[in-house]
Amino acid sequence: MRIVVLGSAAGGGFPQWNSNAPACRRARRGDRAARARTQASLAISITGKRWYLLNAAPDLAAQIAAAPVLWPQDGVRSSPIAGVVLTGGDVDAIAGLLTLRERHAFTVYATSEVQAVLASNPIFRVLSPDCVERRALGLDEWTTLTPPDDPDGDLSVRGFAVPGKVALWLEPDGRDPGLVENGNTIGLEIAERKSGAHFFFVPGCAALTERVLERLRGAPLVFFDGTLWCDDEMIRLGVGSKTGKRMGHLCMSGEAGVVAAFRDLGIARKVFIHINNTNPVLLEDSAERAEVEAAGWTVADDGMELAL
Ligand code: MLT
Ligand code: MN
Repeated sequence: MRIVVLGSAAGGGFPQWNSNAPACRRARRGDRAARARTQASLAISITGKRWYLLNAAPDLAAQIAAAPVLWPQDGVRSSPIAGVVLTGGDVDAIAGLLTLRERHAFTVYATSEVQAVLASNPIFRVLSPDCVERRALGLDEWTTLTPPDDPDGDLSVRGFAVPGKVALWLEPDGRDPGLVENGNTIGLEIAERKSGAHFFFVPGCAALTERVLERLRGAPLVFFDGTLWCDDEMIRLGVGSKTGKRMGHLCMSGEAGVVAAFRDLGIARKVFIHINNTNPVLLEDSAERAEVEAAGWTVADDGMELAL
């Protein structure tokens, strides 16, 4: 299985367009230790013929331009993109669907909750139903992405609920909607049944419950929510008033953080993704970056490729 990191940053990207914080200034200047990143998304394929996107970021056009595997290969109009699997209804997960208009046939896989969000937004009708199929992902059920008996191999996905919040733009009047654990925010397990290769993609998770941790125990590869270094870093930096908890995201550091919680899970490869522009691990020369790497984590980078 081939995995390409199309984007590794949280909503807003790095640098975020309206941030003049020191790290964003470094990224904007082209500082090599503060590499720019687009919003989180992966592309996966078995043989490289058909590709499936995990989330469609607002940066998708630039991500496709930067990833030759996603360029058209056949005839005068085509795309190797065969499907998009969504983990939620946030802007950074769905806005790229609008980039995929132009009458290319593909399938959008999402829970019934997220499909309802798309259905209630007429702008997504730009993906004409006679070319773009919308398929509901049942929770804890395997769905095969590749066509039956595809000679290029089989790829399946299983979505599972993780603690999260409704999409930020659907919050009632800016009030905290509280945590839910249903189809609004899901993690994905992707598997090639034939070879047994599999991995997890959990770009947003609001709490480290036993259920989440047990599911990931012993996994060969996990991409996990790396939004913040500490819960109140946006407040401390003076760039926002929200904590990670309020946003429905985790932080890496501290006894209650992701690094500590994953220490004994026996996961072979741990990769942080969906990293906010305020998180110091984005800076390759930071003490925080050294600390997560010493704990066995990789900080995802745009363009990074992995094989399973
Ligand atoms: C999130 O991950 O909380 C969202 O992407 C926030 C946003 O929509 O900017
Ligand atoms: Mn996000």
